[in-house]
Amino acid sequence: MRNFVTIEGCEGVGKTYQTKLLKQYCLEKGLDVVFTREPGGSDIAEQIRRIILDADNKDMDDLCEAFLYAASRIQHLKDIVKPALAQGKTVICDRYVDSSYVYQGLGRGLGLDKIVRLNEIAVGEYMPEFTIFLDLSPENAFKRKGGADQSDRIEAVGYDFHLKVYNGYKRLIAENPDRFEVIDASGTKEQTQAKLREVLVRRGVLK
Ligand code: TYD
Repeated sequence: MRNFVTIEGCEGVGKTYQTKLLKQYCLEKGLDVVFTREPGGSDIAEQIRRIILDADNKDMDDLCEAFLYAASRIQHLKDIVKPALAQGKTVICDRYVDSSYVYQGLGRGLGLDKIVRLNEIAVGEYMPEFTIFLDLSPENAFKRKGGADQSDRIEAVGYDFHLKVYNGYKRLIAENPDRFEVIDASGTKEQTQAKLREVLVRRGVLK
């Protein structure tokens, strides 16, 4: 889908910070770009997000989790993404279907095929024009962060899970080389931001 860009990466890569800087830059430049995130991003979708990430929901079934992410995605598409794209705006979304492919499909082990099928129903033709992957190994990410945040159900699952997620992204990138733009995020924050902008300029999203 033209003008629809997603950003992906493992925990601790600095995705949220980089997206915030990018948003400030677009505001200063007067560029009409909608920044949003998953899971959540709109009222109903944020309610679903709270259920998914609640650390008390330890017994949540993996498939239930996958459906909740897909449900949140459907609502967020309806409330935010589709209206913005229909108005000709660019949408940059922090996480999208690739997160489900790697976290639920490969991390939780539900299988990529099943999660791809589920998300085909959820998003239809709304696949991103391209996807930026901020590349930092979980080893380096955990070093940066000083360990996982135990108050978040997904972040609390530990290193092995995050390694599966990282390797999952690498597999998706190998299988979809034209859709992914890989950015090395191991340098300074400024270096990563510069690389991010360079990709968005090259792809015609930023001027
Ligand atoms: P969040 O605090 O937004 O994490 P981050 O800053 O890393 O994006 O929490 C989102 C969590 O949900 C994150 O651990 C990744 C996970 N997730 C999935 O497992 N599947 C999905 O489809 C999505 C969108 C996110």
